[in-house]
Amino acid sequence: MIPLLDLNAQLLSYREAALAAMTRVMDSQHFIMGPDVDGFEADLAEWTGAGHAVGVSSGTDALLVALMALDVGPGDEVVTSPFTFFATAGAVSRLGGTPVFVDIDPGTFNVTEAALRSAITPNTKALIPVHLFGQLADTGGLADDPTAPPIIEDAAQALGGTLHGKHTGHHGLCSTVSFFPSKNLGGFGDGGAVITRDAAFAEKLKILRLHGSKPKYFHHVVGGNFRLDALQAAVLAVKLPHLHGWAEGRQANAARYRGLFAESGLLERGLITLPVALPHGGHVYNQFVVRAQDRDGLQAHLEAQGIGTAVYYPRPLHLQPCFADLGYGPGDFPESERACAEVLALPVYPELAPDQLAQVVRAVAGFYGV
Ligand SMILES: Cc1ncc(COP(=O)(O)O)c(C=O)c1O
Repeated sequence: MIPLLDLNAQLLSYREAALAAMTRVMDSQHFIMGPDVDGFEADLAEWTGAGHAVGVSSGTDALLVALMALDVGPGDEVVTSPFTFFATAGAVSRLGGTPVFVDIDPGTFNVTEAALRSAITPNTKALIPVHLFGQLADTGGLADDPTAPPIIEDAAQALGGTLHGKHTGHHGLCSTVSFFPSKNLGGFGDGGAVITRDAAFAEKLKILRLHGSKPKYFHHVVGGNFRLDALQAAVLAVKLPHLHGWAEGRQANAARYRGLFAESGLLERGLITLPVALPHGGHVYNQFVVRAQDRDGLQAHLEAQGIGTAVYYPRPLHLQPCFADLGYGPGDFPESERACAEVLALPVYPELAPDQLAQVVRAVAGFYGV
């Protein structure tokens, strides 16, 4: 059995420290905001070098509160990828804004600077490049272009990833991250954060996550309850120092996969296509996603051999029934649609042993009779 992800393998490295942290919060009975949330935010701000981090209740709420801070509402367009988790565009719609999709680059699965620029109109309020699977989208000169709309980096899958040596949070106005348990930095439940270099924007986010209240019980804006729990913050603070090491483990496994697939004969036959990692980027492989011929057949074959895989994502957002009123149809974003039919995520978590990776590649080759 090789699961797609084994969180228990990772737990051993921080279990005692997490227990101590949770016990400390329990004994303090200080569960809402307070020193653990402040402390984790300071750690994350320093770790990314961005200067400011605002803990929130999930990666979804990180997107929502960032869009609220930009006053996104009816009539506003937000340009993003159709090949992403639903929350990226869902947050825009929930505020009455209009998601505008652009197609992805087939190698990296990310949107490009050119694609984003092509969709900018006078109504564009923000751009949300998604750093899919752990690799930062290269948005070129957009972040430094004063005529371009503000960028919210959706880094739910990419905390620890870099571009030109810089973490997420440095490639736009802000970056939103998720601490969903399967993410590279996962909590013991839901959680998220907005990372930014902009002190005034961080202050706005802090007010919005507390119902727009400042001072307490006085509301100049309508916000919501978007708080990160102190218990989650305490656990995340214990895990954050491990994140570099875990990313290195994933990168080493991805490099092994590349070597094993290169030797397998699968690549030149076009049966498997590996993801492109940008030379100036630091991909942290929250997922190792290949393209496969007869993807569904391969997935069933691997499952029968006890190897866990997943399809992120089977249907692009422009073809989701809830977005029918946006007026998109099949064929509008061919690369995103093709990716939905071909992608398969293989196990890449840091504790996997080299012989397990070899077993996965052998099983893939076995399916194709290579
Ligand atoms: C790209 C992307 N954006 C946003 C989210 C939402 O994060 P959360 O599940 O913490 O709300 C996710 C989570 O899977 C994601 O992958």
